[in-house]
Amino acid sequence: MNSTPIKTALIAIAAVIALQLVGGLLFMVSGTYNIAADEPHLKPVRWMLQAGRTRAIQMRSRGLHPPNLRDPSLLKRGLVLYRQNCQPCHGGPGTANEQIGRGIDPKPPPLLTASNKWDDSELFWIISHGLKLSGMPGFAPRLSETDLWGIVAFLRRVVLLSPAEYKRLTSAEDLGADDPLLNWPSNNDYGFAQLKAQGDAKRGLELLQSYGCISCHMVPGLAHQRSAGPPLTRFAERQYIAGSLVNVPSNAVAWITNPKQFKPQTLMPNLNVQPAEALHIAAYLYTSGSSDRLTALERNLQIAKESSTPKLN
Ligand code: HEC
Ligand code: HEC
Repeated sequence: MNSTPIKTALIAIAAVIALQLVGGLLFMVSGTYNIAADEPHLKPVRWMLQAGRTRAIQMRSRGLHPPNLRDPSLLKRGLVLYRQNCQPCHGGPGTANEQIGRGIDPKPPPLLTASNKWDDSELFWIISHGLKLSGMPGFAPRLSETDLWGIVAFLRRVVLLSPAEYKRLTSAEDLGADDPLLNWPSNNDYGFAQLKAQGDAKRGLELLQSYGCISCHMVPGLAHQRSAGPPLTRFAERQYIAGSLVNVPSNAVAWITNPKQFKPQTLMPNLNVQPAEALHIAAYLYTSGSSDRLTALERNLQIAKESSTPKLN
């Protein structure tokens, strides 16, 4: 019978798998695997946990219906709750997390960048239920559904706040619902449309060279001379310009044309770059790094424009 070798092979494979399972189980119960939170997971364990986590969140958050997240009263609610419940672990614009948020593994990520990769329903789900095998707690038992959507609303707005604006919002005694920071700018697109229509990255590269920006900055694609200023690599991913302005096209142009208007003491000189030229330069700088952050910001602003009359008690 020629099925015998196949049978033997199958039994051998099954035995190996069984041994591995038993081995894995013994490894886990033996206490060899370090579960201390001040030591990161082994790479394969981390990969497995993360891949499974993303799929699980996507699947379970389907069918949720977000309310109008542009409602200022919802935003205000979210702001207060964020400061109380999230900032201690995740920090905020220009605000580091507190002692309790350190020494957790996986580390609480800065939400200004992490929230970009989730849609509104997925964020709602994460905040409601928390994440197993991590320090991320679920808030559904304590907070109402409106509260939870309020936090999602605030996460969408906070990515466009500068450290100074965040400080003003979180330290205000009482905020009026008409506070501009709690309202979405309906006619300000932060220069995205102009960048798309007129920004010429190729021209930008030439200008970076001719203005001598490389005498202080490392610029991707150009030989670099000295580093008196920060490297301009992965510029699209950066949340702030000079630590103080939200990194959006209009601010990049404003900074490049006249940095001293924002920081009189800055070592970056006014080089008399014209706004149209600065737009080309920004177009080039934004080709460096992942565009996820900018795409998410632009989508946010588009939704803000579309949602006309906000309503929610
Ligand atoms: C006790 C600390 C702690 C508190 C409080 C906390 N988180 Fe987290 N959070 C974490 C940790 C740790 C992770 C990382 C989990 C992981 O990577 O598996 C996390 C992850 C997340 C993620 C997923 C981020 C990503 O990388 O995909 C979101 C979104 C989030 N938290 C939102 C919030 C919000 C909103 C609040 C407040 C309502 C909050 N968290 C409060 C510790 C905390
Ligand atoms: C004499 C040196 C010098 C020159 C020349 C210079 N910069 Fe700067 N630049 C700096 C310094 C220093 C900073 C940091 C500013 C701060 O935080 O105060 C900076 C910051 C920046 C930033 C913000 C980067 C970040 O990560 O926050 C951008 C963008 C920038 N420069 C673009 C340019 C461009 C474009 C040119 C050429 C037109 C240029 N710089 C020429 C010194 C220079």
